[in-house]
Amino acid sequence: MLMSEKNLTTQENTENLMEKIVSLCKRRGFIFPGSEIYGGLAGAWDYGHFGAELLNNIKSSWWKKFVSDRSDMYGVRAAILMRSEVWEASGHVAGFADPMVECSKCHHRFRTDQLDAEATKNATICPDCGGALGESRQFNMMFATKIGAADDTAATAYLRPETAQGIFVNFKNTVDAYHPKLPFGMAQIGKAFRNEITPRDFIFRSREFEQMEIEYYIRPETWTEQFEYWKDEMAEWMESVGIDMSKVHAIDIPEEDLAHYSKRTVDFEFEYPFGQKELFGLAYRGSFDLDNHHLDYQDEETKERIVPHVIEPSFGVDRAFLAVMLSAYTEDEMNGEVRQYLKLAPHIAPTLAAVSPLLRNKPELVEKAKEVFGMMKREFGRITYDDNGNIGKRYRRQDEIGTPFCIVIDFDTLGENPAEKNTVTVRHRDTGNQVRVQISELINYIKGKIEK
Ligand code: GAP
Repeated sequence: MLMSEKNLTTQENTENLMEKIVSLCKRRGFIFPGSEIYGGLAGAWDYGHFGAELLNNIKSSWWKKFVSDRSDMYGVRAAILMRSEVWEASGHVAGFADPMVECSKCHHRFRTDQLDAEATKNATICPDCGGALGESRQFNMMFATKIGAADDTAATAYLRPETAQGIFVNFKNTVDAYHPKLPFGMAQIGKAFRNEITPRDFIFRSREFEQMEIEYYIRPETWTEQFEYWKDEMAEWMESVGIDMSKVHAIDIPEEDLAHYSKRTVDFEFEYPFGQKELFGLAYRGSFDLDNHHLDYQDEETKERIVPHVIEPSFGVDRAFLAVMLSAYTEDEMNGEVRQYLKLAPHIAPTLAAVSPLLRNKPELVEKAKEVFGMMKREFGRITYDDNGNIGKRYRRQDEIGTPFCIVIDFDTLGENPAEKNTVTVRHRDTGNQVRVQISELINYIKGKIEK
């Protein structure tokens, strides 16, 4: 039975929390190191089946709230390869750089600001080998590539370092196609690439990651109220996917630290086990981007031409994934053993329910279990059939995957006792409590337990 839940904010537990999450992700098929069988590739991660399902649920919930459920938002799916002129206009060619120092001996590279933050201001000694560090210089983080077969005529293009510019370059197309009235927004989910000097902290800082971004076009005089509105919308979504809001802090970025395009930025920081760091950002970009791409907007009724200003709520998908995992990770004691489980909300969990026969070598149980599995799968989609190991092991596995319900077909299901015939056991992940439910009632029972 359920005993005390461990408070994972205590020092003892946070210290190895990251290790536990990384190993759970690997063991249960959420996330693997990129190119692993060839030794791995720093800053690249592969999502396995359950990871991809969880990631898709996070993205779908974002798209639903910010695109499908609204009537002022237009979705975009722009190309990842973009012409170099885009990145010249956006300021990335000139300014998307981090300060970097290199060790003269082992040639390891470090971000100057990270060494500073780690209390070795103006560091001269390499933290890895003790060699002498060189001068700090700016390192552009964009991945460049060549388009075209012949080296001499091939044009330089960049893998996008943010999804935002794929939205801005489609501003005119969107206005011409849909004639939206201000205020309106454009939204995109997709990959972004940055040649980070020191990718670290699991999926927190990688070289290939995914973003969910909105560019919301407004009349300039409304920017403060719009900014507050979007700040609340962002917080509402974070809470809806199960991010622990007691660990989220909205930090106003001081003027001297603002990005080149921003007039005001609020970073939502999360208390990760490795420190309080950026989760998402909200920026007031003014007319920076539309000006630089020479774009404007004409009001169709008044014929007035203006350059709308932009509020940008920007979300990292992988950081959302990590914050959801860290918020859901729980340890308790059940039946005298320490148990690890993910307290994921049913609409986010990679699999809603696992269906099992009590014993997999009893054909009559297997047949009934397959029937129940088929019925549930047709209704909910995210249903797993699990007959591996004994029932205790299955519960442990499904707890670690975050499966809210385990449905077991046993001998009472097939028996003649009218109270139990055609019933199954439904075990609840968080409490371990089990109830018997009629197969004919099972779909409604599970539906009733899924909050929005
Ligand atoms: N368009 C604005 C923009 O890209 P950003 O703060 O550089 O702003 C937005 O990035 C979000 O993308 C961040 O809040 C973070 O969630 C995510 N992100 C940025 N760099 C990342 C990286 N190297 N690895 C994983 N996520 C990253």
